[in-house]
Amino acid sequence: MNAPSEFVAPDITARKNTGLEHAADFTLPQPLERYSAEDHATWATLYRRQCALLPGRVCDEFLDGLAALDVDADRVPNFERLNEKLVAATGWRLIAVPGLIPDEVFFEHLANRRFPVTWWIREPHQLDYLQEPDVFHDLFGHVPLLMNPVFADYLQAYGQGGMKAKALGALPMLARLYWYTVEFGLIVTPNGLRIYGAGIVSSQSESVYCLESASPNRIGFDLERIMRTRYRIDTFQKSYFVIDSFAQLFDATAPDFTPIYTALKSQETIGAGDIVPEDRVLQVGDREGWSDSADA
Ligand SMILES: [Fe+2]
Repeated sequence: MNAPSEFVAPDITARKNTGLEHAADFTLPQPLERYSAEDHATWATLYRRQCALLPGRVCDEFLDGLAALDVDADRVPNFERLNEKLVAATGWRLIAVPGLIPDEVFFEHLANRRFPVTWWIREPHQLDYLQEPDVFHDLFGHVPLLMNPVFADYLQAYGQGGMKAKALGALPMLARLYWYTVEFGLIVTPNGLRIYGAGIVSSQSESVYCLESASPNRIGFDLERIMRTRYRIDTFQKSYFVIDSFAQLFDATAPDFTPIYTALKSQETIGAGDIVPEDRVLQVGDREGWSDSADA
């Protein structure tokens, strides 16, 4: 995540998964015996860094979920142990996967309240960025909010919507919604702007940048606007979208998207850093440090 464009990722997925088989739905038993002392130390370092940084920056729901799950600070957590609390709280369950999985498999899992978590962890020299999700991103970044009933429902609805979007040829639009909410979302609270997106929460530098930098735009949540907005996969985001509450997010995404997809197909996409006249702008970014390379 957030790697500079010249960075070439090592083939870490293949290396970590050597000799492991997965089922047709891409799940496998979490291979606990494969974690080395170095892997656990990497988890502990990342966990300590983010926990020092996040209070006052991340939303309360995230910290509440992290505490309620009793996520291990010093070693890669055992998914089954976390499942005891997660299943009881919201009916979600973690499943171990080898890495990124096909869209339709991912959606099917989410629609059934199964959250795929990459089992392996990054190498020590990759603490600050990684091009593909690992267990720290997937578990630390995503799972605490699955303890929140409203967010838990939102993610299930996203999975259900994903299968439909694929059939309608609208996956890029839905992917943008996931990107700007689940991965890079900000939320307004009585105490100020807070982070809830997993891509931010699991990144030391973006946790600070997204809230404190003058560079990015911060724009009020608008479903159709987001569905038209391209994004950055190799740098910090040029724009962050801000929700007022998780209920707003759930309510806005509850209706059938089919007519929206139809309407948006004839409209042009919006660049990652662009502001449009209808935007409810909280901050116009000063664009410092923005890359000229193409948006995704
Ligand atoms: Fe993610």
